Amino acid sequence: MKLVGRIPSGRLDAEPLVRLDYPPFGVVVVRTPTGVYAMEESCNHAGASMATGWVEDDCLVCPVHRYAFDLKTGSLVRPKGLCPPQRTFVVRQEGEEIAVYDPFQLAIRG
Ligand code: FES
Repeated sequence: MKLVGRIPSGRLDAEPLVRLDYPPFGVVVVRTPTGVYAMEESCNHAGASMATGWVEDDCLVCPVHRYAFDLKTGSLVRPKGLCPPQRTFVVRQEGEEIAVYDPFQLAIRG
């Protein structure tokens, strides 16, 4: 897995959403009562930044049309079926930091 970035654990106490730069993407990291999750920043519906969205019931809600994506699976919860799931990332507590990893592995076979 490729490292996306690290943030101090305490930063999520002060900021509800933290954006990590992961060119050409951004990744949004959020803490909910059930854990810490990371999701691709650009909304699959129309490309808005989810970094200014908010959390409802373990979903990240896009601020533009209020689509809600499940933070654990990336699936669109509301409204149903109107766009594919958001990419999600692996989050690990490593010492005093939260580390975010990209689980995607590109394999090129000859
Ligand atoms: S751009 Fe995110 S819900 Fe429309």
